[in-house]
Amino acid sequence: MASSCYCLQWLLFVQALLVVAASSDSCHFPAIFNFGDSNSDTGGLSAAFGAAPPPHGESFFGKPASRYCDGRLLIDFIASSLGLPFLSAYLNSIGTNFSHGANFATAGSTIRQPYATLTESGFSPISMDVQTWEFSQFKSRSQALIQQGLFKDQLPKEEYFSQALYTIDIGQNDLTEGYFRNWTTDEVKSAIPDILDKFVLAIQSIYWEGGRYFWIHNTGPFGCLPYVLDRLTLKAPEVDRFGCGTPFNHVAQLFNRKLNQTLSQLRKDLPLGVFTYVDIYSVKRELLSHAHQHGFELPLVACCGHGGKYNYNINIGCGSTVTKNGKEVMVGKACQNPSKRIIWDGVHYTDTANKWIFQQIMDGKFSDPPIPLRLACKVKA
Ligand SMILES: *[C@@H]1O[C@H](CO)[C@@H](O)[C@H](O)[C@H]1NC(C)=O
Ligand SMILES: *[C@@H]1O[C@H](CO)[C@@H](O)[C@H](O)[C@H]1NC(C)=O
Ligand SMILES: *[C@@H]1O[C@H](CO)[C@@H](O)[C@H](O)[C@H]1NC(C)=O
Repeated sequence: MASSCYCLQWLLFVQALLVVAASSDSCHFPAIFNFGDSNSDTGGLSAAFGAAPPPHGESFFGKPASRYCDGRLLIDFIASSLGLPFLSAYLNSIGTNFSHGANFATAGSTIRQPYATLTESGFSPISMDVQTWEFSQFKSRSQALIQQGLFKDQLPKEEYFSQALYTIDIGQNDLTEGYFRNWTTDEVKSAIPDILDKFVLAIQSIYWEGGRYFWIHNTGPFGCLPYVLDRLTLKAPEVDRFGCGTPFNHVAQLFNRKLNQTLSQLRKDLPLGVFTYVDIYSVKRELLSHAHQHGFELPLVACCGHGGKYNYNINIGCGSTVTKNGKEVMVGKACQNPSKRIIWDGVHYTDTANKWIFQQIMDGKFSDPPIPLRLACKVKA
């Protein structure tokens, strides 16, 4: 099954490349504005609610880098490949440089407003609507400052807002939030239309601020992640031959089909927008299903964590410590070789896995329309 999907994707991709080749000058993306959750948070949650502790960041940055990862996220690979610096979190108030964009994502963000506080639910109060309000503040204040001749070398130029790439990776937490509230799969499914209605409002507000080029990741197979397998499979125990929770992945796929339809509608409603739908689900699913073939081991086991079948324990997370004889001892430890692992801390992917995923998506093979990242400003493939 997986191989025939791949094959079809290749055909569409080659066909599209031939068409795009005629107009293949790379787009000029002088900035990136990102919206999302922990999959693309480069410092938002850490700025407001406490820094991600070691060993986060150890593989690439050599120290915690306000990311829930041992190194780089997909958004970091996207920025680098466009020749841009890593994005500063909008909420980071010092030492930040927004001249090539800003990141509004925070770990735990949902599209809809969360139902409870961060401490009660684990979901960030900075939902997608809040992120777009922050963005519109950022745009108006930065432009007002530049007009006064201030902070020119730290803020984006006015024209960057219409030339930028707007990247979005959000939705996973809206689905898991339902499950964590003890909803049934049917109840989670029935929330999807409203979740996507709120998603549309957020996209429209970015568009009205002048955003044009949208690069939108669908949601991953969260039924393969330790935090879901460990906490939720008692309620929905069905697993597939790879050990992933079937109902969760079905919900993710349903969300993705509806997201894809939503983008078709947005292309009609916002005719100056260019929307690229990126099928992250299929790429992550392939990686987790054929880990060994792609150079990885123990696909469903967290590298950094503590105990159990998945090396995951919600109470003893990656980097957590206990005090023994007056000394801090780390109990949420990292594995020997994170570069051989896919899952970092039970929720997020490792630096190497993110790099692999980026290499799959960058040339457009998993996009609709199937055009490469560097051409994501072109109206038609
Ligand atoms: C911010 O980054 C840009 C591009 O990397 C650079 O030209 C500018 O000098 C930086 N601003 C500050 C204040 O460091
Ligand atoms: C979900 O059910 C569990 C076990 O019955 C309970 O402990 C927990 O409080 C419930 N969660 C919510 C958000 O209602
Ligand atoms: C998204 O929808 C379009 C039709 O608008 C369809 O051609 C395409 O195959 C869908 N993409 C995915 C990945 O499901």
